[in-house]
Amino acid sequence: MTAQTHDDLIAELATELPAWLPTQRWFAGKDRAVTAVRPVSWTTLLDGDPLLIHLVVEVDQEDRTEPYQLLVGSRQAQVPDVSSSASIGLESGLTCYEASGDADLTAVLLELMARGTTVGELTFETEEGAELETGLRAHPITSEQSNTSLVYGRQYILKMFRKLSPGLNKDLRLHRALREVGCHHVADPLGSITGVLDGEPTTIGMLQRFMPDAADGWVMATTSVRDLMADPSMAPEELGGDFAGEASRLGAAVATVHADLRRALGTEPAGADDLDEAVTVMVERLDRVAADVPALAVHVPALRETFEAVRSITSPVEMQYVHGDLHLGQVLRTLSGWLLLDFEGEPAASVAERSRLRSALRDVAGMLRSFDYAAQQLLVGRADDPVLTDQAMSWARRNRDAFCEGYAEVAGTDPRDEAVLLRAFELDKAVYEVSYEHANRPDWLSVPLASITRIMTEGS
Ligand SMILES: Nc1ncnc2c1ncn2[C@@H]1O[C@H](COP(=O)(O)OP(=O)(O)O)[C@@H](O)[C@H]1O
Ligand SMILES: [Mg+2]
Repeated sequence: MTAQTHDDLIAELATELPAWLPTQRWFAGKDRAVTAVRPVSWTTLLDGDPLLIHLVVEVDQEDRTEPYQLLVGSRQAQVPDVSSSASIGLESGLTCYEASGDADLTAVLLELMARGTTVGELTFETEEGAELETGLRAHPITSEQSNTSLVYGRQYILKMFRKLSPGLNKDLRLHRALREVGCHHVADPLGSITGVLDGEPTTIGMLQRFMPDAADGWVMATTSVRDLMADPSMAPEELGGDFAGEASRLGAAVATVHADLRRALGTEPAGADDLDEAVTVMVERLDRVAADVPALAVHVPALRETFEAVRSITSPVEMQYVHGDLHLGQVLRTLSGWLLLDFEGEPAASVAERSRLRSALRDVAGMLRSFDYAAQQLLVGRADDPVLTDQAMSWARRNRDAFCEGYAEVAGTDPRDEAVLLRAFELDKAVYEVSYEHANRPDWLSVPLASITRIMTEGS
C-alpha cells in the first residue's frame, strides 16, 4: 500500500495552528502574535487509523520566521487520553492532536530507529554499536520548557527539538564527540532522527540512555539550602544535608568534560580580537539592560571597568567547545557520579554564536551563578532577614569554593586564579539575569543585583 500524503488534511490543520501554537509550553514566540503558519514538509509515519504524521511548519511573526516540528496524531474513533491542550482541532471529520502524549503512536519512533529506516525525508538511525530494545511505551516528561522529551520504559529518552535550525544539532554533535573519547559524564547517545531543512540534513531528534535513578542537581542543592534555613543555628558544614562534597565532585566532573571536549575537538588560543569582541558583547549587553532596568544604573561604571579589564589580559586564554548553558538544572547525580545534560548552548543565542569556541570559564561562571541562585531563591521576599541572608551567603560561598576546588584537582589550575576573566563572565551572566528577572519575575531582581554587589565588593 502506498502511503497517502494527506496534503488536504495538513492544509486544513495549518489554519488552526496560529491560535494553537502559542498555547504550547515549548513555543518560543509567545511575545508576539503568530501571523501565519506554513507547512513546509510532512511525512506519514503511520497510515490509516490511527494516523501519525511528522510535520515541519514555518511560523511567521512580526519580526521573524522560524521552523518548528510537530507530531500530528489523528483517529477516527476515540482519541486517547492526551492532555486537552494537545487537541488541535477537527479536520475532515478527524480529530487531530499533538501526538507526543499518545504512547501507541510514539512507540513507532523507537521502532523506526531500531530498524534504521528511512521514511520520505526522515532518516531514523542508531549510533554505531547501539542495539535498541523495542516495544517500550513512552511518556513525555513534564519538567522541560523548550523541547519535548519522551521516556521509553526506564531505558531511553528521546528529545525532539522543537525549534529547528538547519544542520547537525550541537547537542548531538558534542555528545558523539564525548562518547568517542570515552567520557563518563554524559548519557550515551544511542540514536537520532534526521530530516531536511533548507536543503540540509537537520537533526530533529536525539535518543539517549535514560537514568531512572538520577537526582536533579538543582533539587539536591535547594534541598540542602532548605535544611540549613530550617535550623539557623547550624553552619553549613555541620548539616546532614551539606552539599559541599557533591559540589566538589561536580567541579571535578565539569573539568573532566572540558578536558574531554579539548581532546575530542581541539582548542585554539584566543587572539586579542577574541578578547576585544567578548568585551564589546558584554558592554553592549550592559548598556542595553541598564537602559531598561533603573536599579542597575549605580553599578554601570564599575561593571564597565570590570569588563574592559579583559582587554588587557596578557596570559594565554584557551578557546574550546564548552557546554554553553551550564547550571544546576542541567546536571544529574547518578549512582556512579555526575552527568552533564543538554549541550545545545544558550537558548537565546543564534546557532552561529552557540557553536563558537569559548573559554571553559564560561561554564564555570554559569555554575557559580547557579550556586548563588540556589542559595538566594529562599530569600525572595525576606531579604531583610539578616540571619537567613548570612546563612544563604555562607552556603553559596562554601559550595562555590568546593566546586572550584574539585575543578582544580582535575584541571591542575584553579579557575579562581584567572580572576579577571572569571569575574567578568560571572558579572556578564548576572547582567543577563537582571534582564531576565526584570521581564519575567520582578520579585527576583534582588537575586542578581545582590550578587553584583557582592562580586564587586569582594573584588575590591
Ligand atoms: N539521560 C537522562 N536521564 C534521566 N533524565 C534525563 C536524561 N536526559 C534528560 N533528562 C531529564 O530531562 C530534562 C530535560 O532534558 P534536557 O536535555 O535539559 O532538555 P531541554 O533541552 O528541553 O532543556 C532534564 O532536566 C532531566 O530532568
Ligand atoms: Mg535543559
